[in-house]
Amino acid sequence: MYKHDLLIIGAGLAGLRAAVEGVRQGLNVAVITKVHPVRSHSNAAQGGINAALTDRGDDWKDHALATIKGSDYLADQDAVEVMCKEAGEALIELENMGVIFSRDDDGKLGTRAFGGQKKARTYFVGAITGSALLHVLYEQSIKYDLHIYEEWFVTKLIKDEGRISGAIAFDIKTGQMELISAKAVVLATGGAGRVFEPSTNALICTGDGLSLAMQAGAPLMDTEMIQYHPTTLSGSGILISEAARGDGAYLINSEGERFMENYAPDYMELASRDVVSRAEQTEIDEGRGVDGCVFLDLRHLGKQFIEERLGYLQEVALEFRGIDLSESPIPIKPGMHYIMGGIKTDLNGATNIPGLYAAGECANVSVHGANRLGANSLLDTIVFGRRSAVSSVEYIKSIQDLTPDERLLSREKSRIQSIIDRPKGMRSSELRLKMATSMTKGIGVWRNAESIENTSQIMKNIRGQLSNVYVENKGKIFNTDLVSFLELEFMIDVAESICQGASARLESRGAHFRTDITSRNDLEWLKHTIVELSDQGMNTKTSDVTITEWQPTERIY
Ligand code: FUM
Repeated sequence: MYKHDLLIIGAGLAGLRAAVEGVRQGLNVAVITKVHPVRSHSNAAQGGINAALTDRGDDWKDHALATIKGSDYLADQDAVEVMCKEAGEALIELENMGVIFSRDDDGKLGTRAFGGQKKARTYFVGAITGSALLHVLYEQSIKYDLHIYEEWFVTKLIKDEGRISGAIAFDIKTGQMELISAKAVVLATGGAGRVFEPSTNALICTGDGLSLAMQAGAPLMDTEMIQYHPTTLSGSGILISEAARGDGAYLINSEGERFMENYAPDYMELASRDVVSRAEQTEIDEGRGVDGCVFLDLRHLGKQFIEERLGYLQEVALEFRGIDLSESPIPIKPGMHYIMGGIKTDLNGATNIPGLYAAGECANVSVHGANRLGANSLLDTIVFGRRSAVSSVEYIKSIQDLTPDERLLSREKSRIQSIIDRPKGMRSSELRLKMATSMTKGIGVWRNAESIENTSQIMKNIRGQLSNVYVENKGKIFNTDLVSFLELEFMIDVAESICQGASARLESRGAHFRTDITSRNDLEWLKHTIVELSDQGMNTKTSDVTITEWQPTERIY
């Protein structure tokens, strides 16, 4: 058995920021990750990180209001206040750690505009901001004395005497399964993009943390809130960063019209993402698209500007579409990008289970509500990653050491072996594809009672078929076939919870747009949906949204 004070599951930005903080606070910290840390999906974040710096004449309250309006008033305002107040310090700390942010002509930290905000407060590194941050945090984490279980897969959290005391995991390289004891665990496993197809998310984004938490008894909140990013390449779903629109790119339809004029005349292409995605989908549905797409036009920005500020996008466009962005518009469409919902936490990342914390995309401290603003996700990971580690210190100091029961390990070993031993059946890839394409069809930019109910039934059928899936690879070394099946089990939990939330919420708000109930209903639905697992399956209830000083009003861009 391995033993640590704090075990962090996931090595993206939230996980590494928590890890660095844990070591700084004197804990024995371990990070466990199913991929090498710099292959975590934070690496793919492109456009930037938001912060209102006072020495730029900016005000955290302005950032907070934009975030709350962006969330369609579903975000908990106390959480938004924390995030926006701490943003400046978090940003400068990243710079001090070594992130080389892009500069403006005066040599000061440069900013670009991002959606849903009038003030340009997005700090960036070209169009590779996530990668730059992740590499610096990884550098920091290896400077400290912390253990990284690299390419290990967590199958279960250990819950003993009502509290979390570690996890069971196996080393993907060898198949060796171990019990890792920890006084507290932070889930920082990222999002669940692969529950949908296509998605901008990496293949590793399979909702592991959401399922692990729910299985352990933690509720998920607002899982129906799925963000469709307005500019993804059709087919592959590859992200074309909002940075392009922030830096001046237009959206045009098949007639060459800047159609956002009809949907968001004040903010145009920089309205919030749910608004822009719906506008695009309307254009496409009404016949003003081409092959299910509209276009992102950067030609007027000029080749030099594109290559200096948006070089990565130019590379993607050339490589995947053979398009030079300075010469032709590129076809794009809304694509699944982010889950606003997740494991319900308090302002310090604590869940309802003693010893269990969550931060980053897998968590829902409720700063994004029904629609996240671009460049607030990196900020969320850094602010709440740090806070979760800080609050775990107090908890760790307050508890008696508990040695987990080794029999839990033998039980889990038998469960996994029985999956490997299944002699024949269907392959997990078949069910994964069925699940993911059905989710996109039924829980898309638009949804309604019928589409939600159909999707929910499909997910139940898929769950029923899980016991028929077999793992062809019977070996122990790099058994990715086994990993893929275990991920599918996680994803079905997440998919069902999304359907539950979507079915419960009888209104349209933010990213949850129902064609059968098209308006927001603050009277009855200024509420979070909460999905919990019980012996009878999943059930849904609601809880109140925290309003501090910004009363909900009509959302106009
Ligand atoms: O478009 C983008 O660069 C994505 C940023 C984000 O989701 O925060």
